Amino acid sequence: MKEILSPIAIMQNMVEKLQNFYPDHDQKSNGIIQFYFTHEDKKYDCYIQSNHDTLKLFEGIAEKPNVSVRCSFYHWLDLAFGRLNPFVGIITRKLQFKGDIKFFNVIPKKSIKKSLWVPEDPVTKFEKNPSKYWEKPQKIVVLNASPRGEKGYTDFYLKPFIKGMQKESVVVTYYLNQYSVNPCKGCFSCWINKPGECIYQYEDNFHQLAEQLSDADIIVYAFPIYADNIPGVLKNYFERSVSRAYPYMIEGINGVRHPRKHIHKNQSMVVFSICGFWEMKNFTPVKAFFNALAHNRHCPVVGEIYRTTAIGLYDNPFLFKKLNQVLVALEKAGEEVVTYGKIKRKTQKTIHQKLKRTSNDLDQINEWWNTKKGSKVFDY
Ligand SMILES: Cc1cc2nc3c(=O)[nH]c(=O)nc-3n(C[C@H](O)[C@H](O)[C@H](O)COP(=O)(O)O)c2cc1C
Repeated sequence: MKEILSPIAIMQNMVEKLQNFYPDHDQKSNGIIQFYFTHEDKKYDCYIQSNHDTLKLFEGIAEKPNVSVRCSFYHWLDLAFGRLNPFVGIITRKLQFKGDIKFFNVIPKKSIKKSLWVPEDPVTKFEKNPSKYWEKPQKIVVLNASPRGEKGYTDFYLKPFIKGMQKESVVVTYYLNQYSVNPCKGCFSCWINKPGECIYQYEDNFHQLAEQLSDADIIVYAFPIYADNIPGVLKNYFERSVSRAYPYMIEGINGVRHPRKHIHKNQSMVVFSICGFWEMKNFTPVKAFFNALAHNRHCPVVGEIYRTTAIGLYDNPFLFKKLNQVLVALEKAGEEVVTYGKIKRKTQKTIHQKLKRTSNDLDQINEWWNTKKGSKVFDY
């Protein structure tokens, strides 16, 4: 269990970091800086001993320090991070120095080495405006992440969309339920121990699946809403994908992100989701999720399909006409996204059209559940 660090442990950490830069520091000298800290009614005495190679921290009181400072631990942190001017500190009696104040110069101020290597993966024009720089995709991959795979309603609604895309490009479909993808256990072995290689690399199918998706120009993530979000199996896939990025941090379009190891400059994604309930707001969490994911994977969203009441629309004979309208529009959306890098508003409106919920609907559904109670046929 992680515990709150004491001022001495924090000082130790600070001195270890400073030690990295001390050998190149131009004001090295032999001597001692003594600290008399108070923190939450306790006293903490420690000192930094410096020589020509090292800075070391010791607990206790040194015999002949070159300089000493007596203050609260928080005021020392403010001083160390430049938030407290030393002269203001003295006047306000927050800091009390004794000895040669200049001796503090043995502490290196610059804490970053100059020649730092960071992999390059700058923001591209395509990412900022994919439809403007759109080129017809050569390869499209659909990842059907419904745990029910080919038996699911996700697959049913996907079919016409895929048909539309196939008119313009090659489409390959993978069913996530045919792969095993362990959840990430957060060990960072893939960033530290064996960069790029997950500890499960040879135990499950994540690596194989990620490779199959990596050279696609468009990836369609298709999934049903589960507990207001993407199904857990798909979340596992995204979490494990962290192993395919570098740990370094760089500026993105709107915030910090990691550079990718397997760069496909013009890769984009389509979000394709269905749900059981009537309201469009059931997709709000996944919209936000994919918005963030698109930024962090450097992979813009070029199409969004959200179909509410997916089973109701399929099952209700009185909605047959509407179902057909939706299926025709889905095929059109497939063609459009490949041709233009976006789905036309009119097409999207037909797909997303609301189904009116009558006062009878909930009663009929609840009655259906009652008749199914205890049934051996439960795979709807
Ligand atoms: C575990 C589970 C959780 C679900 N959670 C939601 C939900 O939060 N909101 C919703 O509208 N539908 C929810 N549904 C309904 C599914 O989105 C819907 O049944 C969908 O059609 C299933 O697609 P599939 O046949 O491809 O699996 C849930 C279904 C399951 C099995």
